[in-house]
Amino acid sequence: MTSTNDPADRADVVVVGAGLIGLGIAWRAAARGLDVIVVDPAPGAGASGAAAGMLAPVSELHYGEDALLALNLISAGRYGDWSKELTEATGTDIGYRECGTVVTAWDGADLTALRDLQALHERLGLHSRMLGRRELRELEPGLAAGLPGGLLAAEDHQVDPQALHAALTSAAGAAGVRLRRRRARRVQLSDVSGDRVTGVELDSGEVLAAGQVVLAGGARIRELDGLPPSVAALAGMVRPVKGQTLHLRADRPGLLTRVVRGSVRGVPVYLVPRDDGRVVVGASSEEAGFDTRPRAGAVYELLRDAQALVPEIGELMLERVATGLRPGSPDNAPVIGPAGPEGLVVAGGHFRNGVLLAPVTAEGVAGLLTEGELPAHLIPFSPQRFTSTKGAAG
Ligand code: GLY
Repeated sequence: MTSTNDPADRADVVVVGAGLIGLGIAWRAAARGLDVIVVDPAPGAGASGAAAGMLAPVSELHYGEDALLALNLISAGRYGDWSKELTEATGTDIGYRECGTVVTAWDGADLTALRDLQALHERLGLHSRMLGRRELRELEPGLAAGLPGGLLAAEDHQVDPQALHAALTSAAGAAGVRLRRRRARRVQLSDVSGDRVTGVELDSGEVLAAGQVVLAGGARIRELDGLPPSVAALAGMVRPVKGQTLHLRADRPGLLTRVVRGSVRGVPVYLVPRDDGRVVVGASSEEAGFDTRPRAGAVYELLRDAQALVPEIGELMLERVATGLRPGSPDNAPVIGPAGPEGLVVAGGHFRNGVLLAPVTAEGVAGLLTEGELPAHLIPFSPQRFTSTKGAAG
């Protein structure tokens, strides 16, 4: 290994992972005056490159996840400011659109499930309302005739994750963040006691010295050597959940105006329409290890189900098939906070909510790096919940 005193190899913070979470943290930390290096062999090629960008705390609510809902709502509420700030800083429109979301029922059983979900929304003070058959098609004429009804979540919006990634790369660079396109091989700990981090060794053998290291490598967090046993055990709990999305394009926009979600014969599918005629269809959910190759069957099932909800989908051009690995923690909630040796911070396990939770994670972790404390809303998501006798966060 090579270690030099070259300032190019030193920083206050090394962030491992240049997806939306890692870059968001780097950008906010640099804005607070820290010198930051981000390490990633292929920035944005992970989950961020496949995500469709639904910001859906209401329509993607799961029973029993109240703590996560509170965090999701905080982060969703920050997207307007993020969008303004990033557009001003970089000139890039991140595709944040306050378009709302329609959830369609396929059959009577779905309709009953949606009524139950709507009742839960009401109990939790969330805004949604049921839609009858006619109103559903008046709102979205591109939907198939004969769908029995649905639900409108008017405050669930969207962002374009790939545009957001480009904007964060550029904003972080302008704030002084340095990007190293290398794989982080090992976290370095102090020789004497191993009780604090001293940097990160790259696959080239170079060592980047830093007093704080943030692990933001998504599902690949377990690939790092040198983690103390408690942190390695935590990293090993994060499982990869493959998601496949189809990126389609229509000649002109207007096929859909809102995000459409639904399930077809029990299989969930969603369609996210962009302003320029693109439509992202997602997403498969496969627990298949680290294999990111696109699977023909998943492409077929997504197209089949998307076309069942929106018949014209078959006329669009297929531009790209993307796969990513969602990082799923044991309770499917994020894992954010200090872990193990002094200076080591985990920002992972975002599972289905990586795009949604990017702002609240970035700002919270930047606060931790500069002031030594997480905001109260992130405390329930600390790594300690998996290493103490206290319950999980969801
Ligand atoms: N949140 C959308 C997905 O995970 O597919």
